[in-house]
Amino acid sequence: MVTVTMKLTSRVQHLGCLLALCFLAQVLWDIPGVWALDNGLAMTPTMGWLHWERFMCNTDCKEEPDSCISEKLFMQMADLMDSDGWKEVGYEYLCIDDCWMAAQRDSKGRLQADPIRFPSGIRHLANYVHSKGLKLGIYADVGKKTCAGFPGSFGYYDIDAETFADWGVDLLKFDGCYCDSVEQLADGYKHMSLALNKTGRSIVYSCEWPLYMWPFRKPNYTEIRQYCNHWRNSGDVYDSWQSVKSILEWTSSNQKTIVSAAGPGGWNDPDMLVIGNFGLSWDQQITQMALWAIMAAPLLMSNDLRHISLQAKMLLQNKDVIAINQDPLGKQGYLLRKEDNFEVWERPLSSLAWAVAMVNLQEIGGPRSYTINIASLGQGVACNPACFITELLPTKTKLGFYEWTSCLKTRINPTGTVLLLLGRSQTFKKLP
Ligand SMILES: *[C@@H]1O[C@H](CO)[C@@H](O)[C@H](O)[C@H]1NC(C)=O
Ligand SMILES: *[C@@H]1O[C@H](CO)[C@@H](O)[C@H](O)[C@H]1NC(C)=O
Repeated sequence: MVTVTMKLTSRVQHLGCLLALCFLAQVLWDIPGVWALDNGLAMTPTMGWLHWERFMCNTDCKEEPDSCISEKLFMQMADLMDSDGWKEVGYEYLCIDDCWMAAQRDSKGRLQADPIRFPSGIRHLANYVHSKGLKLGIYADVGKKTCAGFPGSFGYYDIDAETFADWGVDLLKFDGCYCDSVEQLADGYKHMSLALNKTGRSIVYSCEWPLYMWPFRKPNYTEIRQYCNHWRNSGDVYDSWQSVKSILEWTSSNQKTIVSAAGPGGWNDPDMLVIGNFGLSWDQQITQMALWAIMAAPLLMSNDLRHISLQAKMLLQNKDVIAINQDPLGKQGYLLRKEDNFEVWERPLSSLAWAVAMVNLQEIGGPRSYTINIASLGQGVACNPACFITELLPTKTKLGFYEWTSCLKTRINPTGTVLLLLGRSQTFKKLP
């Protein structure tokens, strides 16, 4: 590494690149155990749709029949995921969040859906969703109540796992409200993982274990990875730039702890994509899409597929960006450098390719130029001796071959991102 840097410095001086070079030795963090939850699922980050951010706990089907949490809502979303190209690009899991339950368990202690809002029941809904070539996700809570106050799974882990398997559910989001202690929380998450396994049905297990653990102690990600397919670390995403920005800040400030925990079978979950809603500008939507790809995040949209702009739809269905998110190598990206209100993130990909995202975090003024030294990307090897660079966002453009010693100048809108793909050749191998 040292010899490389010295050689580079002398060559770069000739070129007059202005950037300071900083090879970050710290990008090589500890590698925890590679063991992931052994259910064969989530080999790439889960993709789908989750109701929470957009529809929350709306139970008033009298006043708002089109946006209350009901089987009708999920059937309509299933129809659209099938007919409008979502399924084709990989969005597969249609997920129910909190507020689907009846207030009480049935006489045998089983959870039941609200009879007014889900008159046909969850099994029927699962069948419908499966008939569209999709999978169904459901929600429950490790504690005594769900966050919205519906029956919790504490004391009922086995019976709830069996109920979900029996209904044909394919994913469980397991929340962490109303637990008495961190021990109870950890035991509960483990218990449910084993209970799901015992059912024999393949069910993606989405946890919030670290999120609820952090206030008390640093979570053991090696352990969490053995039990969960993905895990939420930070609070709920809101439909705002402030929220997306704070999730990115949390992720970069904790990257030494969390990045190496991600890999096929287990992922850090920065929460839903809010693209296509009300709160993010176009540039901010690009930033969320680009950075969720860099972070190898589950891509769970929370929006209204019945009312979504063509522009937002094209961004969410961008196959090049999805290919980065779903890259089979399964290594999460990280913040490489922060300077002058710019952030540079990068992610290693299969076929020796790299994804690079440059974010302009300055919220005053217009587009700003940022010049990057090619040699500083991809741990010094991405473009050695040269690479082919394609801009994927905001606009797909082939930028051409760049030598190791060259520089690349970009212009980035305020709160926007330029997402680049650095390949060994012009024909970067894409996912089918
Ligand atoms: C349950 O766990 C075993 C061993 O850990 C694994 O081989 C099996 O595939 C799992 N089954 C399911 C349904 O996840
Ligand atoms: C974290 O969990 C793993 C697997 O259960 C265990 O081997 C390791 O000792 C734990 N680390 C700490 C610091 O407790």
